[in-house]
Amino acid sequence: MENLISLVNKLQRACTALGDHGEATSLPTLWDSLPSIAVVGGQSSGKSSVLESVVGKDFLPRGSGIVTRRPLVLQLHKIDKGKEYAEFLHRPSEKFYDFVAVRKEISDETDRETGQTKQISSVPIHLSIYSSNVVNLTLVDLPGLTKVAVDGQSEGIVQDIENMVRAYIQKPNCIILAISPANQDLATSDAIKMAREVDPTGERTIGVLTKIDLMDKGTDAVDILEGKSYRLKFPWIGIVNRSQQDINRRVDMTSARRKEREYFSTSREYKHLASRLGSEYLAEMLSKHLEGVIKSRIPGMQSLINKTLADLEAELSHLGKPISADAGGKLLVIMDICRGFDQIYKEHLDGVRSGGDT
Ligand code: GDP
Ligand code: NA
Ligand code: MG
Repeated sequence: MENLISLVNKLQRACTALGDHGEATSLPTLWDSLPSIAVVGGQSSGKSSVLESVVGKDFLPRGSGIVTRRPLVLQLHKIDKGKEYAEFLHRPSEKFYDFVAVRKEISDETDRETGQTKQISSVPIHLSIYSSNVVNLTLVDLPGLTKVAVDGQSEGIVQDIENMVRAYIQKPNCIILAISPANQDLATSDAIKMAREVDPTGERTIGVLTKIDLMDKGTDAVDILEGKSYRLKFPWIGIVNRSQQDINRRVDMTSARRKEREYFSTSREYKHLASRLGSEYLAEMLSKHLEGVIKSRIPGMQSLINKTLADLEAELSHLGKPISADAGGKLLVIMDICRGFDQIYKEHLDGVRSGGDT
């Protein structure tokens, strides 16, 4: 059985590709119904670092100021063997084996859409990474929430970012990965503030506490991580990313993960929690969680897919409307994916009946 997450990945890509042609009016609704995980937090809270350690690779543009200016839809695909590579939706059938080039392409593609003005755009960049070292997962990186404009950007950008982030995370199918630095008061966390606003019951918010290593001496995050303060529905996950000094010294991801593991397993405060802390645990947990959410949504997605298909067919057969061969081909791709969903839905129901995994 094909992995559920990779099926949803395909649908997301097909929606974006078809949406480019402007023919498919019903696609935005289908897109909105697909579960995904969005990373939210203030500037420098550690969002890029968390994303990179979940992937286990350095590939995101870095710098001060507002570096992420378009949403990045990051799809991770686990492959059995072979060299890992990346692919962009806007550069079909081109494989990137060099992750330095991936980073450059993200920033070039950001500039292509936003021009030299350094403004932001809600048009996402789609990046897929194929590797034997990743878990199947879809993550959306969003611009960091900020309080003041920098780099000569207009003051309006602060509000624009907030609106864009809110537009993403208010969708009921969005799982919010809310990043807060442990060395700042949680009461002032931009991520928690915005997550509470759109998800007051914490149903779909996962709290991540970064910079545990940077807390003031004599303080620790045990109460938060044990759920005794700032309780969310899901347990908080503590993280130790690379420091700026580590980055300057080019500490690689493998050593960073090893250092993080050691940090938690040897620390007096955290060792009793070590098995559910850190980036690797976060990646595993998110993948399982996303798969669970998708399973629970299959029936709803199924009916939306059928409706979308019907709408698409009606649109394509509409008299006098020129249809590009390209769009026709993509429709076939969507139909294929829908058949895949049919199959999975049946297997899912069989599983429920036979008391298997649900
Ligand atoms: P973003 O703006 O939210 O994407 O934040 P970044 O991931 O770029 O991190 C901002 C800065 O904080 C960088 O210099 C990171 O090295 C540093 N940083 C992030 N997380 C941690 C952490 O857990 N511990 C330490 N010591 N530094 C961190
Ligand atoms: Na940053
Ligand atoms: Mg960043």
